[in-house]
Amino acid sequence: MNYQHNFNPTISDTHLFDEITKEKEEIGYYNLVHQDTTEFKAYAKTVKQKNIVVIGIGGSTLGTYAIYKFLKHSKPLFKKLYFLETTDPIDIKAKISNIDLEDTLFVVISKSGTTIETVSIFKYIHSLVKCDKNNTLVITESDSKLNEYAQTNGIKSFEVPKNVGGRFSVFSAVGLLPLAIVGLNIDELLRGTQEIHDSFFNKGVEYERVFQKARFFTEYKSVFNINVVFSYSSRLEGFNKWYVQLWGESLGKIDIKKTRQGLTPIGIIGPIDQHSFLQLVVEGRRDKTVTVVKVNDFHSKLAIPHVKLEGLEELDYIDGLEFSTLINMQADATIESLNNLGDIPCDVITIDGVSESSIASLMYEYELLTSVCAKLMYINAYDQPGVEAGKIILKSKLKNK
Ligand code: PA5
Repeated sequence: MNYQHNFNPTISDTHLFDEITKEKEEIGYYNLVHQDTTEFKAYAKTVKQKNIVVIGIGGSTLGTYAIYKFLKHSKPLFKKLYFLETTDPIDIKAKISNIDLEDTLFVVISKSGTTIETVSIFKYIHSLVKCDKNNTLVITESDSKLNEYAQTNGIKSFEVPKNVGGRFSVFSAVGLLPLAIVGLNIDELLRGTQEIHDSFFNKGVEYERVFQKARFFTEYKSVFNINVVFSYSSRLEGFNKWYVQLWGESLGKIDIKKTRQGLTPIGIIGPIDQHSFLQLVVEGRRDKTVTVVKVNDFHSKLAIPHVKLEGLEELDYIDGLEFSTLINMQADATIESLNNLGDIPCDVITIDGVSESSIASLMYEYELLTSVCAKLMYINAYDQPGVEAGKIILKSKLKNK
């Protein structure tokens, strides 16, 4: 019997795992978990400035922002980190008006080294305060124009490895250096990623979980095309943004059979979005999955005091309750209400606490999940051809202005 086909067949778990293991030899982010951080920590110790301003966009900032936003109020940090990402003139002015530029280290991050947002903001900053080897650090690819600029001006630079894509670069110098400089424990970050890496590649719990989830998302993608991440901590707002970029830019692609693929990421925050987007989830079209992210231990004893408010006595049952208990009970109530509906796929990730290892584990798991989904969808997770056309049009308009 002869058999031919022109479709992409479902891949077996064994084949899928072999493909990912093979990909690991070429795609650099998988192996960042085992890198030596000595150089980053040594450099971090030399930084005297109180303010650190990262200039970059997309994968060059979102991961760092996610980790910093999650941890900044819970860790004893010696420096403040700011991000200049947008060409919005009001935003640029507003941000720098709060920063003592004379006491600032500018960290210019761009893998390509020629991103218009990054270079234009850097030029503006350079016009306000001379950026030189005393107050500037560059993180870029070794052969980029930006690195050439750094070398010519004696500015210290660190490398973004060629095989680590922007949105997968948070655990390279891109994220680790600024985070080490402000005082976060980057070895603990890597420890969090190692746990996930080892469990996945040794076919432990992580492997089961990522494979199952990726299979569900991709097999049911025409029904449940929208993946809502419902994070029950405002401190995870940066994580949500990072997830939206990772998922959107990696999975929105044309596959090898020229079919359009994609899963639509949405990031919302609990309990705030219980008073907003949740209505759409509950009564809207059944095209969404929901992943609730909870924080087990907020390391906070902040509680609702026993205060009597005349006329509001019926709410006195909340008196004495810790806010961390309240927010987690709110998450549980939402989960139960969704499960009761019986037709909304919902899973729950509970991270241990507000720590480097917890946030890093969560992010690394999402990177793995993205890679596995991409394999199942027969697409390349690591390029972004769809954003190029706009860049070319802009360049030509700017050159002919
Ligand atoms: O994930 C990506 O590759 C992109 O989002 C980039 O990070 C973004 O375009 C910024 O690029 P660069 O780091 O080259 O300035």
